[in-house]
Amino acid sequence: PHEGQIKKLLRRMTVEEKLGQLQQLSWNGDTGPGGGQNEEAERAARSGRLGSVLNLYGAAHTNALQRLAVEKSRLGIPLIFGLDVIHGFWTTFPIPLAQAASFDPSMAAKDARVASAEARSNGVHWTFAPMMDVTHEPRWGRIAEGAGEDPHLTERFAAAKVTGHQGRADGSDLAARDRMATCAKHFVAYGGAEGGRDYNTVDVSEARLRNLYLPPFKAAVAAGAATVMASFNTISGVPAHGNAHTLTDVLKREWGFSGFVVSDWAGVQEMIPHGFAADGTDAARLALNAGVDMEMVSTHVRDQGPKLLASGEISRERLDDAVARILRIKFQLGLFDRPYADEDAVLSGPTAAARTAAREVAGRSMVLLKNERHTLPLHRSTSSVAVVGPFGDSTDLLGSWAGPGAKKFPATTVLDGIKKAVPKAKVTHAQGVPPQGGDTGGIPAATAAARAADVTVIVVGEPAALSGEASSRSDIGLPGAQARLIAAIADTGKPFAVVLLAGRPLTSGDWVASAPAVVAAWQPGIEGGNAIADVLFGAVNPGGKLPVSFPRAVGQIPIHYNHENTGRPYDPDNKYTSKYLDLPPGPQFPFGHGLSYTTFEIGAPKLSTDRIGADALRDGATVEVTATVRNTGDRSGDEVVQLYIHDPVASIAQPVRRLRGFHRITLGAGESRTVRFRIGADDVGFWTNDTAGRFIVEKGDIEVYVGGDSTARGRALLRVT
Ligand code: IFM
Repeated sequence: PHEGQIKKLLRRMTVEEKLGQLQQLSWNGDTGPGGGQNEEAERAARSGRLGSVLNLYGAAHTNALQRLAVEKSRLGIPLIFGLDVIHGFWTTFPIPLAQAASFDPSMAAKDARVASAEARSNGVHWTFAPMMDVTHEPRWGRIAEGAGEDPHLTERFAAAKVTGHQGRADGSDLAARDRMATCAKHFVAYGGAEGGRDYNTVDVSEARLRNLYLPPFKAAVAAGAATVMASFNTISGVPAHGNAHTLTDVLKREWGFSGFVVSDWAGVQEMIPHGFAADGTDAARLALNAGVDMEMVSTHVRDQGPKLLASGEISRERLDDAVARILRIKFQLGLFDRPYADEDAVLSGPTAAARTAAREVAGRSMVLLKNERHTLPLHRSTSSVAVVGPFGDSTDLLGSWAGPGAKKFPATTVLDGIKKAVPKAKVTHAQGVPPQGGDTGGIPAATAAARAADVTVIVVGEPAALSGEASSRSDIGLPGAQARLIAAIADTGKPFAVVLLAGRPLTSGDWVASAPAVVAAWQPGIEGGNAIADVLFGAVNPGGKLPVSFPRAVGQIPIHYNHENTGRPYDPDNKYTSKYLDLPPGPQFPFGHGLSYTTFEIGAPKLSTDRIGADALRDGATVEVTATVRNTGDRSGDEVVQLYIHDPVASIAQPVRRLRGFHRITLGAGESRTVRFRIGADDVGFWTNDTAGRFIVEKGDIEVYVGGDSTARGRALLRVT
């Protein structure tokens, strides 16, 4: 609907004004090296040579800058304000990896609805989320920001988050006061960083790119994602910021993406140290021609554009295309009609409803890793609880990329949550050891507290600062002396449970064997302490599942479930098979794993037909898969029923398992239900190495598994003829 207006504006714009639209500057920001381009931003806004600002929020602040662009510049084109609203603005929800553990994409939508209302009322139009980088690297700090190791789980969460923020896929809801434009990031294959070291090299085949890394982006684009951010990595030698294949051939041409591509922080400039661009002029040429539309922080396109246009190294058509894409999103956001945030309608903090939502999402994201002898749930009638460990009385539960709310609205602590859950019990606290470092001086006080209590809750994990951007770790065990604290409490012989807080899977070493019960609570957000208490005392029966495999040791990485087979799969009776000599095979806890306070039985899957033509599949036919699930325990609970596919003979060897569907269901004690899935071409086929993009469905048998985790044994065979 805005194409006519866009054309009209383009006709009136000078080259400098057009190049200005392609520029984003950072306000006081610290989300990358340098930043704080305030004065330059004011000057550029006034002269109509600025498209966007990041890291500025607050209606009065954004309005002041917007006024310069709208009221002082020649054409009055409004700015678009962007911010990293990753898992909340004021109300910090659990980190995205935790949300993925809910196996319930509506949880991501809940976060998005709350965050959009809060951020938009504070002048922010655009979030740099969702992050959808599939990764097989738990050492990579940014694993916290995505949905883990599986492309299907990630695509479902990515789409839910885009829709939660934006509403309808055609952009027609974007002008509402409680909506924000999204940014599908980081395009693409950033999660493949070698060794899990942030920003590192990625060498990837076309088939892997299309089967593993691209699907979430495709789903996000289909859901209407307004923008896409290029990633910091190279893709088989070509930086993502200069990659015409991914940005233009795939994203813009093949998928028909009509929004704009923003660079990551100085990502255009970083093509120089990558060894791809000779200098800023070269970087600007490469980025714009490859398909980057807006440059974040560095200013090469804006500065070198006139020269590049004059020499014909960039074209006017491409420049106009980039400007049109940016204007399109500004029109959709309604910025030309309503450029200012309403200063009388600012949300200034989390509402009670927002907190309730955050608590619900946190509860649904928790994963019961282990629970021997019904250690959990704890009895509400318990008379004394010792809360020990460095995170027992800590507000460091928000995780990396917590929004502006992190500074003003701290998380409830586990100690406070437990005190509220059992108000009559005596609840004591001893830190035992610090979050990092080797000081064990507090252990005697912690063991004394444990001895004096009916039960002990040990709250251990990773400080938020150890995950997120530029926060990769070479050792992903519990930091410092925390494992020694667990060993000391175990030695008391008293009952205890471990709550594990982390932005990634941790290797557990020996402590996990000594702990009767372990709950992975991730970084659960503002209501973290309450949500943990909900789970510990059974007000919430945990039903989350792992969105990533938990390795036994760092040396096992990569250890994702969706690996390919070797020619010599592990066989304990045969020396010459694929394994580590010093570790048992497989992860500590597999992808999809998670227990409940009740138990479930899942019957073998049944197919509506055991034969189907490849042509019929290509034409859209599907096969129904059903499985009956029964709650065999004595309380209501949730099971995530998971569907996996394996194509055992293919022209490109396929992963041993691929998640293709899941349903989180609640069943009362003794209750049964039949769960239904449909599988079609998307599920049995795969992308080849053809760079033009070829998705094929081959003839042969397909193994279909349904179960409660990625080791599910219940199997049916589908013959594709
Ligand atoms: O959105 C982020 C991105 O994920 C990493 N670099 C900085 C950007 C803006 O803060």
